[in-house]
Amino acid sequence: MPSLTTRPAYLALKAHADAIRNQHLRDLFAADAKRGESLTLEAAGVFLDYSKNRVTAETMKLLVNLANECDLKGRIEAMFTGEKINKTENRAVLHTALRAPKGTTVNCDGKNVVPDVHETLDRMSAFCDRVRSGDWKGHTGKRIKSVVNIGIGGSDLGPVMAYEALRKYSARDMQFRFVSNIDGTDIAEATLDLDPAETLFIVASKTFTTQETITNATTARDWLLAALKDPAAVAKHFVALSTNAEVVRKFGIDTANMFGFWDWVGGRYSMDSAIGLSTMLAVGPQGFRDLLAGFRAMDEHFRTAPFEKNLPVLMGLLSVWYVNFFGAETVAILPYDQYLKRFPAYLQQLTMESNGKSVTLENTSVDYATGSIYWGEPGTNGQHSFYQLIHQGTRLIPCDFIGFLKSLNPLGSHHDILMANLFAQSEALAFGKTAEQVKAEGHPDWLVPHRTFAGNRPSNTVLLEKLDAGALGKLVALYEHIVFTQGAIWNIGSFDQWGVELGKVLASKILPELQSASELKHDSSTNALIRKYRAAR
Ligand code: F6P
Repeated sequence: MPSLTTRPAYLALKAHADAIRNQHLRDLFAADAKRGESLTLEAAGVFLDYSKNRVTAETMKLLVNLANECDLKGRIEAMFTGEKINKTENRAVLHTALRAPKGTTVNCDGKNVVPDVHETLDRMSAFCDRVRSGDWKGHTGKRIKSVVNIGIGGSDLGPVMAYEALRKYSARDMQFRFVSNIDGTDIAEATLDLDPAETLFIVASKTFTTQETITNATTARDWLLAALKDPAAVAKHFVALSTNAEVVRKFGIDTANMFGFWDWVGGRYSMDSAIGLSTMLAVGPQGFRDLLAGFRAMDEHFRTAPFEKNLPVLMGLLSVWYVNFFGAETVAILPYDQYLKRFPAYLQQLTMESNGKSVTLENTSVDYATGSIYWGEPGTNGQHSFYQLIHQGTRLIPCDFIGFLKSLNPLGSHHDILMANLFAQSEALAFGKTAEQVKAEGHPDWLVPHRTFAGNRPSNTVLLEKLDAGALGKLVALYEHIVFTQGAIWNIGSFDQWGVELGKVLASKILPELQSASELKHDSSTNALIRKYRAAR
């Protein structure tokens, strides 16, 4: 496979980028009165305005050429049909099968996985109905009122994000907490005011070997048994979500209380698998099915729409445009919805664990930039903190603004003010304010440069009707497929995460050293840090 940077489409984009680099969005809009309408797209109930990007019709054509040269279409099909595209782990990548409708066929290793997916969904639904109705009783006969999800990474970020996003639809007579950090503070604070007799722990771990999760789960079990004083209580207060039945059993959780998934579901792609049990407990089985339907609508769009009209493909290609031709290093995710407050954190794992790679699928080092740094905060909070740098700093930071036409809490003018701010920010970023405009306001000459906005700062605006389970599914699937598109162009393996391993190995070596006086054989910095800790211990 030729290196990305030698592909004709890449070279054409490079020349094109140099040619249009100095064109300002002001001029692009002035030259085409319909730009704000033509560079938009609506599919699966998601509207995208990409007109405030530093692109022309030619750019979009060349980007689509690049996607074709990289065989994006073939790669999409390979994913959807269960080819082992996660090469370094020799696994299929089939999170899309988690939302395949009953009765359809998705083969993995010659076996249709859809019946298993639905069998698990049905078991989860039956369990959630029992807990939500109070039919499932705790060990002392009390109903479950508090649910604590214990997991980390994909076994935490998706569940907590989805719970916060769908809180409006959640069972308000129950409370949901999420424990992830190995710092004892996390589990201590999460359980401080809970009644063990009314608490259900969900131990969520694909591998069921993750140090943080198993340690937190063990502490939770001790906490429960200290109060209920009967090992039989575990069966009523612990369920497991995992691919690893054997280790779940060893931990002491009855596998009758385990909801499984499969090695073809990556951790960061698992919020719609059994890992979503807390989401289903919160919003109910029908809410969860609506979420899956949202995912499915975006999957179908991604798989079938021509690239010119394909939301994830266009957004993925636009991000490649800025990374590889404008040197952009980050993307700001700016949801104008308080319920999406954890969405940027969720996307950090999805995007950065997937595409933070520097080796190609042909096992060679890349000679071009790959995965962006994703970050963000909900609007309008970010405006009063880091937006200054986006408007007037020295870096180019493409932004994704996300908003909803209808508010779930329509109080007075709140929603109008919120959306006015969203639209104002993308306008200000694109068009800025010239020195002439500032001067005309009567400011002294020395102040003019400080009050000038260069503009020409790109953004996408993504709008949906209102935030509900279906909309959330569409939004998450949109970004899953953006990540896929980026990975296909960069020719990297988006579905492994070897980069997390070294730190885990070193921590397990250092742990006994902190607890003993053994000889230290690290570098002088690490040795000194360990000695300092030992002295204080
Ligand atoms: O260490 C990274 C990672 O493997 C993530 O990819 C994963 O989401 C997280 O840890 C949790 O893993 P598990 O669900 O197996 O506990």
